[in-house]
Amino acid sequence: MIHAEGLSSAEVRAEDRRLIWHSWTAQDQELPLAVAGGEGSWVWDFEGERYLDFSSQLVNTNLGHQHPAVIAAIRHQAAILTTAAPTVAVASRNQAAASILDVSPDHFEKVFFTGGGTDAVENAIRMARGHTGRRKVLSAYRSYHGNTGISIAATGDPRRIGNEFATDHVHFFRPHPYRSSFWSESPEQETTRALEHLRQVIEFEGGESIAAVLLETVLGSGGVVPPTPGYLPGVRRLCDEFGIQLILDEVMVGFARTGSWWAFEHYDVVPDLVTFAKGVNSGYVPLGGVLVPGHYTQSFTERNYPGGLTYMGHPLACASAVASIRAMHAEGVVAHAAALGHEVLGPGLRDLRDRFEVVGDVRGIGAFWALEFVTGPDSRAPVPAAQVQQLGRSLLQRGILALIVANRLHVAPPCNITGRDAQRGIALIADAVSEVWEG
Ligand SMILES: Cc1ncc(COP(=O)(O)O)c(C=O)c1O
Repeated sequence: MIHAEGLSSAEVRAEDRRLIWHSWTAQDQELPLAVAGGEGSWVWDFEGERYLDFSSQLVNTNLGHQHPAVIAAIRHQAAILTTAAPTVAVASRNQAAASILDVSPDHFEKVFFTGGGTDAVENAIRMARGHTGRRKVLSAYRSYHGNTGISIAATGDPRRIGNEFATDHVHFFRPHPYRSSFWSESPEQETTRALEHLRQVIEFEGGESIAAVLLETVLGSGGVVPPTPGYLPGVRRLCDEFGIQLILDEVMVGFARTGSWWAFEHYDVVPDLVTFAKGVNSGYVPLGGVLVPGHYTQSFTERNYPGGLTYMGHPLACASAVASIRAMHAEGVVAHAAALGHEVLGPGLRDLRDRFEVVGDVRGIGAFWALEFVTGPDSRAPVPAAQVQQLGRSLLQRGILALIVANRLHVAPPCNITGRDAQRGIALIADAVSEVWEG
């Protein structure tokens, strides 16, 4: 176990509270855990206490912590070239693009690299708008696509002009059988009604004004909700009918998370643009990007593409992506994640639903699941926030690092977690649920 000497977890947490401004939270909070190091599916604090990482941090360490081949690739690249502008050609960037395109459908011919997921989504939208000459973007309620959009609107130089896009966003409801917006009684009915709803939104917004429909292939932080059967092919058909680009956001679900390279492979659909980040290199160095089809290049052959970032395609990040994808191939991580879903996580978590009435719904795919805690099977009302927070504390005390969102526990361990550790995690969740709701 390697960690910084001479520090205690309490000191690190107190310094964090004093010095770090935190995202998405009130600032008057001390974080529950200080992480000193990690390996595979485990992290440890400064006292050497070990925790099973059932969250993959923020659903990004698809290969777990400190994968030796990825670390070696970062070291190797650091010795050669640590940084380079997007205006020069770099071998590791080319290799990363080739590795990513190699696991993608043939019609994708280029990669636009970014520093993470948000900027990938921004650029996919920018591309779709530039390509179609239309402005509106339709996306789903409950979705999360990132946290910028303000900086370019605030920009005073002419780079702003091609980017005044913080308007023309329209939302619609996507299928969610457990919390249906359509009073559906079956997944099939949910598909039909959700597609009819989307058609109406398109018609009322004016199909000819819509550049893109943007969807998370599997709704992620909004609740891990896979699309109902036939939904994505139906969206594809609607997009084709109205000349709309289909952007699938795979920031959270790409690169083995759902048991395939891309989540859309499960659902019989090929999008026009795909965004990725997180699992592409397990977040060891920030990286994201957009898969771009060949014909998009023609829209920008003589026209300037109005987007760019200083650190796009950062050499260290790209070298780590090449090594990550190679490791995923060599270690069969994609098939392993699929088997985890079928054989361990799916059955194990459904068993919790059968055992505990408070677990209202269990859903997911591959190494990506959620449990919803409700006051009763009929009301489906979320349990009080204090109870879910208590669950988080109980899990941590038992040595499991979990992702709690609203009234849900999101289960997203590294895609290469052993079946045994996955089972251990489920058993710890069962103990914690029993403690919180059965006393
Ligand atoms: C589906 C999806 N898109 C975009 C983002 C934004 O990515 P980032 O936090 O890397 O900017 C996230 C982050 O969780 C996400 O889940």
